[in-house]
Amino acid sequence: MKRLHFTFLFLFCHLLQAQHLNESLGSLKEFKKTDSGVRIEASNAVLEATVYSSSIIRIRISKEESKDFSYAMIASPSTTKFDLKEVQDRIELITDSVRLSIQKTPLRIRFFNKQGQILNEDDPAFGTSWIGNEVTTYKRLQKGERFIGLGEKTGNLDRRGRAYVNWNNDYYGYPLNGDPLYQSTPFYIGIHNQRTYGLFLDNTYRTTFNFGASNDRFSSFAAEDGEMNYYLIGNSNIPEIIKSYTQLTGRTEMPPLWSLGFQQCRYSYYPYYKVMAMARNFRERKIPADVIYFDIHYMDAYKVFSWDTTRFPDPLKMLKELKDLGFHVVVIIDPGIKVEEKYAAYMSGLKDKYFVRYPDDSVYTAEVWPSWSHFPDFTSPKVREWWGAQFKSYVDQGVDGFWNDMNEPASWGNKPPELIEFDFEGNKSTHKRAHNVYGMQMTRATAEGTKKLMGGRRPFILTRAGYSGIQRYSSVWTGDNVASDEHMLLGTRLVNSMGISGIPFTGTDIGGFAGEPSPELYQRWMSIGAFTPFFRVHSMIGSKDREPWSFGEDVEANVKAILERRYQLLPYLYSCFFESSQSGIPINRSLAIHYTHDPFIYLPEYQNEFLFGPSILVAPVPSTQRYSKIYLPEGTWYRWGSDEMCKGKSEIITSSTLDSLPVFMKGGAIIPIQSTLQYTDQKTTDTLYVHIYNGKTKTSFTYYEDDGKTYDYQSGKFLKAELTFDGKQKTFTWEKKEGTMASKFKTIQLVCHGFDQFTQVKVQDKAPKLSISGKVKTLTIPLTDRITTKW
Ligand code: GLC
Repeated sequence: MKRLHFTFLFLFCHLLQAQHLNESLGSLKEFKKTDSGVRIEASNAVLEATVYSSSIIRIRISKEESKDFSYAMIASPSTTKFDLKEVQDRIELITDSVRLSIQKTPLRIRFFNKQGQILNEDDPAFGTSWIGNEVTTYKRLQKGERFIGLGEKTGNLDRRGRAYVNWNNDYYGYPLNGDPLYQSTPFYIGIHNQRTYGLFLDNTYRTTFNFGASNDRFSSFAAEDGEMNYYLIGNSNIPEIIKSYTQLTGRTEMPPLWSLGFQQCRYSYYPYYKVMAMARNFRERKIPADVIYFDIHYMDAYKVFSWDTTRFPDPLKMLKELKDLGFHVVVIIDPGIKVEEKYAAYMSGLKDKYFVRYPDDSVYTAEVWPSWSHFPDFTSPKVREWWGAQFKSYVDQGVDGFWNDMNEPASWGNKPPELIEFDFEGNKSTHKRAHNVYGMQMTRATAEGTKKLMGGRRPFILTRAGYSGIQRYSSVWTGDNVASDEHMLLGTRLVNSMGISGIPFTGTDIGGFAGEPSPELYQRWMSIGAFTPFFRVHSMIGSKDREPWSFGEDVEANVKAILERRYQLLPYLYSCFFESSQSGIPINRSLAIHYTHDPFIYLPEYQNEFLFGPSILVAPVPSTQRYSKIYLPEGTWYRWGSDEMCKGKSEIITSSTLDSLPVFMKGGAIIPIQSTLQYTDQKTTDTLYVHIYNGKTKTSFTYYEDDGKTYDYQSGKFLKAELTFDGKQKTFTWEKKEGTMASKFKTIQLVCHGFDQFTQVKVQDKAPKLSISGKVKTLTIPLTDRITTKW
C-alpha cells in the first residue's frame, strides 16, 4: 500500500513537472483544405492557415476550440486564389506573393517570398510550443536580421537584442529604456538579406517579444494565455507591409483640421479668467494656436462629465468666448467613476450594472483621481453606448475634443486584480485578457458617442492607452515623459515607431511633462514638435509656465516663427493625412520605411531622423548642439531656408542653431503651403504656394482639400489633385482628379528651388508672370483643373 502511494506521488510530481516543461505542437496527423486555406490536426493542437490576401497569411494554433474574436481586426479572409499541395514531407500553400511551407514531422512553418527566398521560419526544434498556458512561437534568427516597430516602445530603432512586454502601463516619468509603456501594438517588421516581412500577433493577453535578447538563436513571441494567432505579411517593402497591416487593423480617418494646429495644455489651467487671459495673450501676441486643454481640475472633485462651477461658473459662456477667439477646447476624461451617491454617472452605471465586477458579483473598486471609483466595462457594447451618451452636455457647451487618459486602466497601486470580469463582447473574460484593450474600448466609446452627438462634425480624440487598431478611433500621445534632451529624442523614436506600427496621429508632451525644460530645450522641442502630427505642449502640476512667451522675448520670437511655419505647412500636412487615411503610411516616417536597407540609418546617432510626409527630412538633434552631424540618405537634399544643396548617402556636419533645426527637402519634392494663420478657422489668402525642389526623376504628390470639419468628404465633397514634377522633361502639372469641391485657393504660385537654367517658361503654352528672387523663381498661375508648365 505504502509502495502504491509512493508510485502515485512520483507519477503526480512527474506530471506536474512536465506541465512546466516545454510542450511541443507535435506532428501532423491529418489535414483538410478549407475555403481560404488549410486546417491541420497535429498531435497536441489544431493549426489553421488562412489566406487574407496574396501577401497575408494567418496562422492560428489552438489546443481547444474557441470562438474566433478580435478587437483589432476589421478584415476577413479574402477570396484570393491559392494552391494547396502535398509535397513529400510537407504541405505547401502558395499564393501569388508568398509560399507557406508546412513541415509535417514535427509540425514547423516556413514562409518564402515569390523568388523562393526565406522570409521567416520556425526554429527547427521549438516551433510553436507551450509552457503551462503560455504559448510561444520561436523563429530562427536570420543573418543580420533587424526588427522595427512594436508601437510605443523605448530603445533603438533596430530592436535586435532586446525583449519587450505588452501590458498597458501607467508609467510616470518612464526611464529611457522603460517597458512596458501605455500602448500595446504586437506588430513588428523583420528585415534581412534585402527582404522584409511583417508579423502581427493578435492576442490581447500579456505578450512578450524577444528579438534575440539573451540568446543568439531565435526571435520569439509569446502570449501568457489564449491562442497563438498571428498574421505573416510578406510584402517586399515596408510601405506595402504597413498598407497590409492597416488593411487588417484599420486606418485613421481625416481629423478635424484644427487638431493639426498648435495645442496648449497644462495640468491644469484654471480658473476661467486665467484661461481667457492666456487665450487673449496668444491673439494679442499674434502667436498661432488652435486648442486649449482642460486637465482634471476643470471637474467637480474629478468627477467626469461635470464642471467645477467655482472655477468655471459658466462653461457655455467661456466656450463661446474661446470660440470667438478661434480656440477649440479639449477636456480630459478618465474612466474611473467616483463612488458618490447622487452623482448621476455613478448612479446610472451602478443601477444598470455597467461597472466591472468581481466573480462574486460585487462591484470592483479602486482608487484613482476621484478617490474610490468604479470602472465602466467598455468591452460591453451597451456600456460603450451609455458612455458615449454622457458627452451630451460637453458637446452642447461647445467642447469638440476629448482626451482619454488613465485608461490602461490606471489606479493607485497599478495592479488591477486578475480575477475581475469583463463582458468582452459576450465572451466573458478576466482582466488578464481585457487589460490591453480596455483603453482602446474606452476611446472607441468616446469616439463613437461624440461623433453621434456632434451633428456631422468631426470630434478630436486623444488617448494614452491602446491596442492594435486604436488608430481607427484616436490619436495617441506618449504619456508622462521627462524634460530632457534624451527624452525629446526618445519621443521622436516613439512617434516614428508608432508610425511603422499603423498609428499615424501621434506626438509627445512637448517640453517634457515631468521636470523643467531649459529655454533651449523648450525651443528645440517646439521646432521638432512642429514636424509632429499631434503638436501639443503639456506639463505637470506645479511646473513653471510653458506658454510660448514664458521664456522671454527671444524665445517667444523664435517659437512664434516656428508656429507660423507649422501653419504654413498645413496644406502639405493635411494632404499627408489623406494619404495616410488611404494607405496607412504614417506622417512621420522613420528612415527605415523608405531607406530600409541602408545600414547608416540604424546607427544610434542617426536613428531618430525621419521624413515628415514623403519629402521633408527632419534631423532631431539635442538642444545643446549648434552644429550637428547628421546623415542624408540617397538622393539630393536642399537645406530648408538656405536651399544649400547636399548630396545624399553622406554624413554631413550642419548648423543646428535653435532657430534652424536641420530640415532638408528632397530633390523632386512638391510641397504645397499657404500663408500663415493665427488659427485654422481663419480664412487664408487666395494663394497656394507650391514649392518644387529640382530633381532628376519624376515625382508626384497628391494634394487634398476638404472642409476640414465635417464628414461631407465621405460623400464626395473634397478636392483631390495630382501634382507631378518631371525633372527630365522639365514639366510640372496640376491635374484635378476627383471630388466635387472647388479649392479655397484661387491662384497658385510655383516656387522653384534649385533651377539654375530657368529661362523660358510656358504655362498652358503661354509665358506667365515670373519673378526671380536670388535662386528662387516664382510663377503665378490662376488655379484651374489642369495646369501644365514647361521650361
Ligand atoms: C496623467 C496624464 C497627464 C495628466 C495627468 C492629470 O498623468 O498622463 O497627461 O496631466 O494625468 O490628469
